[in-house]
Amino acid sequence: MTRGVCPFYEPGLEEALGREMAAGRLSFTAEASEALRDADVVFICVGTPARANGEANLVAMESSAREIARHAPDGVVVVEKSTVPAGTAERVGNTLARERNGFRFDVASNPEFLREGTALQDALQPDRIVIGVESERARDVLRRLYQALTDQGYRLIETDIATAELAKHASNAFLAMKISFANALARICERAGADVTSVAEVMGTDPRIDRAFLNAGLGYGGYCFPKDLTALGRMAARLGYEFTLLKEIERLNDEAIDAAAAKVEDALWNLEDKRVAILGLAFKPGTDDVRFSPALALAQRLLTAGARVVGFDPQASANAKQDLPELEVASDPYEAATGAHCLVLATEWEEFRHLDLAALKQVMAYPVIVDGRNAFDPAEVAAAGFAYYPTGRPPVLQDRSTVVLPDLDEALLAGPDGPR
Ligand code: UGA
Repeated sequence: MTRGVCPFYEPGLEEALGREMAAGRLSFTAEASEALRDADVVFICVGTPARANGEANLVAMESSAREIARHAPDGVVVVEKSTVPAGTAERVGNTLARERNGFRFDVASNPEFLREGTALQDALQPDRIVIGVESERARDVLRRLYQALTDQGYRLIETDIATAELAKHASNAFLAMKISFANALARICERAGADVTSVAEVMGTDPRIDRAFLNAGLGYGGYCFPKDLTALGRMAARLGYEFTLLKEIERLNDEAIDAAAAKVEDALWNLEDKRVAILGLAFKPGTDDVRFSPALALAQRLLTAGARVVGFDPQASANAKQDLPELEVASDPYEAATGAHCLVLATEWEEFRHLDLAALKQVMAYPVIVDGRNAFDPAEVAAAGFAYYPTGRPPVLQDRSTVVLPDLDEALLAGPDGPR
């Protein structure tokens, strides 16, 4: 970072880093004392990973508070940016007070709602800015900090601290719920012969529902939804409330992987010695992040069942290989598909929508596509001669659906008892 090199893929970020560093507005240091010495505001942006029991691990929050108490000047405003359970700011405040006698500080919460892959845009053109503040100083400092955005009309919502903390967890859990709802609908659509994408379109025209996050597929992954859902559940339980809906959201998310694996098995019968190509390994397009990636969960499942799995991702292949060494990685989609008995589209990078289907078919051992993100056009895939298993939409089964209709006249002549 000190050299302006971004250690992960995020569109536009490296250019922005370079720009701001060259202008002298941004610098990095590994010394807490140097960063904190003259600070008016300190944002704590550390990771809050899940403990084995699902609770958020807040060790880094506590050690940050200690460093702040050691090095920051009196009057500093300490802002939680990390996603934390409600009540964490109080703990941070207690630590700050305990670690330094007479320390004058204010604590605030300012949850972040940006998404990986569109981080810059989300941060600079936010849907809302939330500040949880309980003192005039914190309110004043954060209002001034965001004034450039509020002057442009971006909305700033002020709440108490616990509300701001909880609003972040609630937002992520609700979005995950929408996805799981769509995935449950996909299971029903598959049985009823309906099309989940059209059901979502219809639902989405109602502004009370909205179309966003109703895409059925392999389910949600990434470093936020899975961990935040369990952390919220654990926090609720600690407070004496069993938020059982959250468990069901997780179960439906796991079921989405099961459903895709079942389609591969249905298409290929035994998986032993079959080669499966997986297109897209990142947890979503636009990132090289493979943490809790549904694509890798599916790859693991297929590997365990005895298949050979070859993956390709425009950005995440190296990270995927590191996480799942048994996975073979290819340098382009066609190489991944070569000799494959089935191709699974697991992450809907835009470039996969424009693949040359005829070329794919030519290199594959069997012409079978399982579309875990409904990225392909069913008519095009069918016309190219593939057996096509989308998610929550009617499949196209080239071999088995070729129903040979009896000649009508002959059938009529034959009567109900068959040929005479
Ligand atoms: C998520 C939230 O969207 C952000 O608002 C939040 O700030 C962030 O977590 C965080 O807590 O830091 P992110 O994890 O980057 O952002 O990714 P999303 O775009 O929300 O996607 C999450 C997962 O849901 C992906 O695996 C994606 O493929 C999946 N998804 C999304 C679906 O399966 N269906 C959909 O309709 C939408």
